[in-house]
Amino acid sequence: MTRDWDLRADELSGEAIAAGQPAAWFERLYAEGAAGAVGMPWDRDTPQPQLVDWWTPRPGFADGRGRRAVVVGCGLGADAEHAASHGFETTGFDVSATAIDQARQRHPGSTVDYRVIDLLDLPADLVGRYDLVVEVFTLQALPDPPRTRAAAAVTSLLAPGGTLVAIAFRDIGAPPPDRPPYPLTRRDLALLETTEVRMVQAEEVAHPARWVATYERRSWLPHPWQPAAVEGCRHYPVPARRRLRRRPAIARRHG
Ligand SMILES: C[S@@+](CC[C@H](N)C(=O)[O-])C[C@H]1O[C@@H](n2cnc3c(N)ncnc32)[C@H](O)[C@@H]1O
Repeated sequence: MTRDWDLRADELSGEAIAAGQPAAWFERLYAEGAAGAVGMPWDRDTPQPQLVDWWTPRPGFADGRGRRAVVVGCGLGADAEHAASHGFETTGFDVSATAIDQARQRHPGSTVDYRVIDLLDLPADLVGRYDLVVEVFTLQALPDPPRTRAAAAVTSLLAPGGTLVAIAFRDIGAPPPDRPPYPLTRRDLALLETTEVRMVQAEEVAHPARWVATYERRSWLPHPWQPAAVEGCRHYPVPARRRLRRRPAIARRHG
């Protein structure tokens, strides 16, 4: 079913992308929704079903007390409320001030810290802070650029040892659309990896076609003089001590 705000989203996103401001249309659309000119976009009061399916079998996330979660592009707040309901000290942020205003109105008394923040201009206090990062449908709403930069910003939110779950439409080989949403490819999923953050699972949900990808940031920090990447071991460079132990053996063979 095509909703009236879908059609408006097509118009506004097309204009914004043509003007070189690919994140400018979200606020306009939410504001029209709040004014009643169109239906409220991405309007749901329950957590995203694939997020619930991801969460439920993971006992490590049942009780988040003492840990921090952040929901990127949180929209009207249902996923942030889900994280908070599991005890996480939760931040939900969105570039749209109207979305954040609506989220606060919908969840009076919520423990979620709702903030108006542009993912592409993250405040320093969020970086490296979160044990759990939740990203639902935000990266796919952005063309590239700035999707690559946005993905790096999502990953930067992870604290050492933290987990990231990213949920997105999955590319199934259809011609690429000229406006959002842009279904993500496996290559897009790799944008969320760094030398410290590796993807541990990429689940292909069949109907509807979705990715549910899980990433982990390693909990130890590399030695300052250790190279960030070692051939054949991209994400987990050999610890410095092991590499040092091997050196005398090589020296003896050639000595
Ligand atoms: C497709 S909507 C999904 C909303 C919500 N995650 C959901 O699943 O219902 C994309 C969301 O990302 C937000 N967004 C887009 N670009 C953003 C940016 N640069 N920084 C923060 N939020 C952004 C939009 O305002 C919008 O709420």
